Amino acid sequence: MADSSTSKTATLSIDGQSYDLPMYTPTAGPEVVDIRKLYAQAGVFTYDPGYTSTASCDSTITFIDGDKGELLHRGYPIDQLAGNSHYLEVCYLLLYGELPTTKQLENFENTITRHTMIHEQMHNFFRGFRRDAHPMATMVGVVGAMSAFYHDSTNIHDAREREIASHRLIAKMPTIAAMAYKYSVGQPFVYPRNDLDYAANFLHMCFAVPAEEYVVDPILSRAMDRIFTLHADHEQNASTSTVRLASSSGANPFACIAAGIACLWGPAHGGANQACLQMLQEIGTPDRIPEFLARAKDKDDPFRLMGFGHRVYKNFDPRAKVMKQSADEVLDLLGIEDNPTLQVAKELEKQALDDDYFVDRKLFPNVDFYSGIILEAMQFPMSMFTPIFAVGRTVGWISQWKEMLGDPQNKIGRPRQLYLGSTKRDYVDIENR
Ligand code: ACO
Repeated sequence: MADSSTSKTATLSIDGQSYDLPMYTPTAGPEVVDIRKLYAQAGVFTYDPGYTSTASCDSTITFIDGDKGELLHRGYPIDQLAGNSHYLEVCYLLLYGELPTTKQLENFENTITRHTMIHEQMHNFFRGFRRDAHPMATMVGVVGAMSAFYHDSTNIHDAREREIASHRLIAKMPTIAAMAYKYSVGQPFVYPRNDLDYAANFLHMCFAVPAEEYVVDPILSRAMDRIFTLHADHEQNASTSTVRLASSSGANPFACIAAGIACLWGPAHGGANQACLQMLQEIGTPDRIPEFLARAKDKDDPFRLMGFGHRVYKNFDPRAKVMKQSADEVLDLLGIEDNPTLQVAKELEKQALDDDYFVDRKLFPNVDFYSGIILEAMQFPMSMFTPIFAVGRTVGWISQWKEMLGDPQNKIGRPRQLYLGSTKRDYVDIENR
């Protein structure tokens, strides 16, 4: 850990006995109380389901100021990166800590571009799935199976192997996502093309067919690149923490990233973009918004406004702002006027932000609120929304995984519990129960 210790301590008093706990000052964000020795000293655990107040690691990659609605990658604001940079440059920044020089970027792009094909034998692996499998199910399986295909990059103690695994995952994830899609629609797999950039190549692998030429619209590839950029990393979110926890046991990188994909799939996390578009389409017309807002507020109804709320942001998610602007641009450029879903989304946002329930709880649109509208306009089926999120987030998972393995304090993740079950009791034979 970088030296962030202060002379400040926090004092915890239990049954008249005081314990001094060291404190750390981060470069940004709240101060941190170090409780690592608490159990050894005081014999107590701390209780924090959902890690709402617990820093599980130290990191130098991404910082979120939830109150200001600010997201920084290595210090650079996401709106500046989304506006001026592009996905592979952001990947380099996240992985290596600094923006690349022209030469460094050229080499990096070259490496990623030349790792995009997957082992030919893996095609058979895809064919083992049912055609109606959700592409996320296919991705969890195929990415996990990479451990069985790339033995030369599974040794986590070898820096070069770690590097190769990082490049392979970033490069091959779009190929795997596109193949999962092609398989689900019964079309032939399309091989990657080295003359296209990262986003254009992904669109080509998704939408080209052997029967005719498919030219990628540069406007769409720019929008796709921006979606990847906006999803690139988000500090210690659920899927990233899953990757770190899986990795803490020494598991290989492909197994760890497969675990991250599995976690991302849930509707409270990456699955929200699909759930959000489904919700907007179900609402259908602006006059039905009050009915859905009432349901979202009703504690007896499990319905939640999808694409709204965030554990960390208690202000606008800065990614949602860029995404909203992108939705307008893409629909405009595609000549889609008066898109009813976009109208419902904008009106829903307006009404929710005027409503005390959402204002009091600081619930704002998150990144998923507008992304589905853009992806639908690009002709992606809803089932592909979360796989696209996974493609963009891969670099974040990998950067955090790499950082963790380089941390001398890295140890197996093993939370404690507040046990509320039976105390010790004797086994009772079945005839006596
Ligand atoms: N609709 C209605 N009410 C909500 C919503 C919502 N979307 N989100 C939170 N609330 C309410 C809760 O009911 C709770 O109310 P209460 O205090 O009266 O009990 C309060 O706001 C706080 O909510 P929590 O669930 O405690 O907040 P938490 O930080 O645990 O949850 C989460 C964050 C999971 C993102 C939540 O806001 C949610 O379910 N949102 C919808 C799903 C979604 O869009 N997920 C994407 C997240 S971003 C991402 O992964 C890319």
